[in-house]
Amino acid sequence: MLVCETKAALRAAIGEMRRRTGGSVAFVPTMGALHDGHLELVRRAKAENAHVVASIFVNPTQFGPNEDFATYPRDPEGDMALLREAGVEAVFLPQVSEIYPEGSETFVDTRVLSRILVGRLRPGHFRGVATVVTKLFNIVGPDRAYFGEKDYQQLQMIRRMVADLDMPLEIVGVPTVRESDGLAMSSRNLRLTPEDRSAAVVLSRSLDEAARRVAEGPVTASALRRLVLGVLESETRGEVQSVDVRDAADLSALRGEIARPAVILIAVRFGKVLLIDQRVVGERAVAWQEAAE
Ligand code: PAF
Repeated sequence: MLVCETKAALRAAIGEMRRRTGGSVAFVPTMGALHDGHLELVRRAKAENAHVVASIFVNPTQFGPNEDFATYPRDPEGDMALLREAGVEAVFLPQVSEIYPEGSETFVDTRVLSRILVGRLRPGHFRGVATVVTKLFNIVGPDRAYFGEKDYQQLQMIRRMVADLDMPLEIVGVPTVRESDGLAMSSRNLRLTPEDRSAAVVLSRSLDEAARRVAEGPVTASALRRLVLGVLESETRGEVQSVDVRDAADLSALRGEIARPAVILIAVRFGKVLLIDQRVVGERAVAWQEAAE
């Protein structure tokens, strides 16, 4: 596996891959601290493309001033061993100055999708994501890029941005990988205390109960929201930050009975650790998810 620290080295490596086989190049952007959720993105990318390129870059512009940029888990050696084993051909491991040289002043943003939901809890976060993802796409020039559905709002924002800016690549959403008790895999899980780790199973439990309720028959978005909130609040270790039931495609607010695929988005804080999870529900949820992939 080639390890490239500069844009020039990465571009040369990808140019060489394309000359050699002419096959498609997949890109898996990450911030490191890799777990099976990331490796699932690599597995899917590998199954669908000739070459897989990954990046490890903890992007400072997507962290707020009081967020965990400094303490975000970093283990480049361990991450590279996992990527090598998973069959990644080249990994991009830039310094901050390689991505944001002095004098950088351009950002990319979406008007609505960056500001709603998680965007209200983390102002500026999605602007940082949109900017770094645009830059990484420009550096790598992939045919397809792979993102987890766990960060559902991020995935939908990137889909919108790619469509709006006519970026010539396909965005592939990959279903969330879960621990055996249902907790969505996340680098942040490592920072939970053992007690909070056990309690955090309430996130997936609340979504399971919501999915069961939807399967039973018609329900309004607000009743579903109340149900999820009730389950989450039954676990007092967590501080519920938000519960939203939204249109699954554009995340717009839903009123009345759920008549089209909806996504339930939840965010719960355990100590300083913010956990999020999501579930698409509704009659055509499965069909919709397949179409989106
Ligand atoms: O999902 C992440 O890990 C990050 O937001 C991403 C897409 C790599 C951009 O920094």
